[in-house]
Amino acid sequence: HIEDDLDPSQTLFTEEQIQARLKEMAVQIQADYEGRDVLLVGVLKGAVMVMADLARSLDRHVEMDWMAVSSYGSGTKSSGVVRILKDLDADISGRDVLIVEDIIDTGLTLSWLVANLKSRKPASVEIATLLRKPDALQMEVDVKYVGFDIPNAFVVGYGLDYGERYRNLRCISTLAEHVYR
Ligand code: PRP
Ligand code: MN
Ligand code: MG
Repeated sequence: HIEDDLDPSQTLFTEEQIQARLKEMAVQIQADYEGRDVLLVGVLKGAVMVMADLARSLDRHVEMDWMAVSSYGSGTKSSGVVRILKDLDADISGRDVLIVEDIIDTGLTLSWLVANLKSRKPASVEIATLLRKPDALQMEVDVKYVGFDIPNAFVVGYGLDYGERYRNLRCISTLAEHVYR
């Protein structure tokens, strides 16, 4: 079972805690965007679960679009060079864009993405992320909606992967030692 790979003492957030926090974020977003159209932009693949649940917590019309990006360089993410694997379908000029992410780690992906989207002349670009690691930040990113700040430890679940696995967990947890051995 997938749960056997988790460290049971290191469940950061249960399904219930995640859903409760997303509902609070949705209330805030709903108030802030009242009277305006909003385009939610999910960053594949990690943001799939956050997008699905955050969007359904909103009692209003939204559009959803997706981007897939990949950081490349020498295997690490330190270069901050990002490549677009799948671009938006929508033209975002003049639109209010809300980027939806699962986690901001170093901030390199999002700082690049925000600059890229801003060059397309949208009316606004804001960020909603479920998780943020303040101790890992290498690039300052102006984030409007943050679910939880977490310590600088490797976490999986709810969209977050380790070697493409564990995205389908309902909770967010660290992995058990034996997984890395
Ligand atoms: C992860 C995560 C964020 C990004 C955060 O995506 O989903 O998009 O890294 O890292 P950063 O702040 O250090 O740039 P990843 O590149 O692993 O792709 P994935 O979403 O397909 O898992
Ligand atoms: Mn991602
Ligand atoms: Mg990943």
